[in-house]
Amino acid sequence: MVSRFIYRFSRGSLKHCRSIVRCQPGHLPFLSNNCSSIPSTDRVWGYQETNCLGSHAIHGISYQVHNERSSIIEEQVDPFSLVAEELSILANRLRAMVVAEVPKLASAAEYFFKMGVEGKRFRPTVILLMATALNMPITKSASDGVIDTLSDELRKRQQCIAEITEMIYVASLLHDDVLDDAETRRGIGALNVVMGNKIAVLAGDFLLSRACVALASLENTEVVSLLATAVEHLVTGETMQMSTTREQRCSIEYYLQKTYYKTASLISNSCKAIALLAGQTAEVSLLAYDYGRNLVCDHLCSLI
Ligand code: FPP
Ligand code: MG
Repeated sequence: MVSRFIYRFSRGSLKHCRSIVRCQPGHLPFLSNNCSSIPSTDRVWGYQETNCLGSHAIHGISYQVHNERSSIIEEQVDPFSLVAEELSILANRLRAMVVAEVPKLASAAEYFFKMGVEGKRFRPTVILLMATALNMPITKSASDGVIDTLSDELRKRQQCIAEITEMIYVASLLHDDVLDDAETRRGIGALNVVMGNKIAVLAGDFLLSRACVALASLENTEVVSLLATAVEHLVTGETMQMSTTREQRCSIEYYLQKTYYKTASLISNSCKAIALLAGQTAEVSLLAYDYGRNLVCDHLCSLI
């Protein structure tokens, strides 16, 4: 049986009954609410506009929602379907963002952004879905055109978080493959094998620097701090892993802490950044953070 629960954001903060639903480990999360139609006005990079007070569902797994009459509806939804087009535009943007001046560095930096080796894009997917869940309709007394512009601007900033997160993640994989002396990654030769350790390390550094530039362009120091902390955690987690003592190897707390640093921190801090950019309250931002954290480290909060 698929275990699941519906995590409803505080009604005071999100008035439109949006929910984040989580299923068994291995299943992607999805967002849902009461509306059944999905308007698809593509405005920002293929983003499916869902401003009918949250008429979106992320498909692929069966889920339950309560409708207005409190009866339970079962639907099959694909989590990737709402952001598929946006992800493909994001992939093109990433390819443009990692272009380097020196040919050798250029081919190293683009190595895992080439079509077919982009990976699952799990992080950008979750981040974009989180943005869809948290973006409240702009209700200020402004004309439709101004509201559209503000919504598009917010979505672009959140897409930027998805790009930054992916660049940081790929940078960490390049460095990890050097540390692990890996031979393959994503079904092809690891960059350290194809181009050598030195260029692989430099390509990782280059991706990080491009992520920093993109982060600075958001002009939000709190968001910069969140993503910088995530990078610090990646390094901390990797170091914890390589320096584990025999005693620490038997400690579940140590294991979970290491796993949080190495794997969960990046997605949880990115989810929080999405909430901050959306102008959500501290409470909702923390919920977004917890969502990302628990998505990766199931039950971590209750165990640590
Ligand atoms: C994969 O681990 C590696 C990571 C999730 C993070 C690695 C982090 C660093 C090397 C620190 C440097 C960070 C940056 C941002 C440059 P794994 O070896 O357990 O998994 P794998 O089988 O995918 O290699
Ligand atoms: Mg590895």
